[in-house]
Amino acid sequence: MSKTVVITGSTRGIGRGLAENFLKQGCRVVISATRQPAVDQVVSDLTASHGAEKVVGKACDISRHEDLQALWDFACAQFGAVDIWINNAGISLPRKPVTEQSAEE
Ligand SMILES: NC(=O)c1ccc[n+]([C@@H]2O[C@H](COP(=O)([O-])OP(=O)(O)OC[C@H]3O[C@@H](n4cnc5c(N)ncnc54)[C@H](OP(=O)(O)O)[C@@H]3O)[C@@H](O)[C@H]2O)c1
Repeated sequence: MSKTVVITGSTRGIGRGLAENFLKQGCRVVISATRQPAVDQVVSDLTASHGAEKVVGKACDISRHEDLQALWDFACAQFGAVDIWINNAGISLPRKPVTEQSAEE
């Protein structure tokens, strides 16, 4: 089954590598990072190799809750649902369960 995968911080590095590999597996991918021009460039590059129906993108600063909600809503509007959400963009914090982390963290 073709899954929809949202990857934060996917314009370069590990996130972009994940995006390319999920696309190779036949998944639909939502690209994201803080700057829309960088997102648009990566979507353009990946569309050329995987098709416009498989990859879309939207800017999202993960430190802003409203951006995260907008990214979720965008992914659902584009592809119907989110099957996999990868919190790739991030910083180092003390390890603890996600349910014990504050929204600010
Ligand atoms: N590389 C390693 O050896 C390593 C080791 C351990 C853990 N990690 C973790 O793995 C993840 C990816 O690492 P990487 O080396 O691939 O990083 P990277 O090459 O620096 O790429 C970071 C990505 O995140 C985006 N980004 C930065 N700040 C963001 C924000 N506030 N909101 C949304 N997107 C943001 C960047 O684009 P913009 O700047 O344009 O937004 C870029 O697309 C990070 O969470 C990192 O802490 C990496």
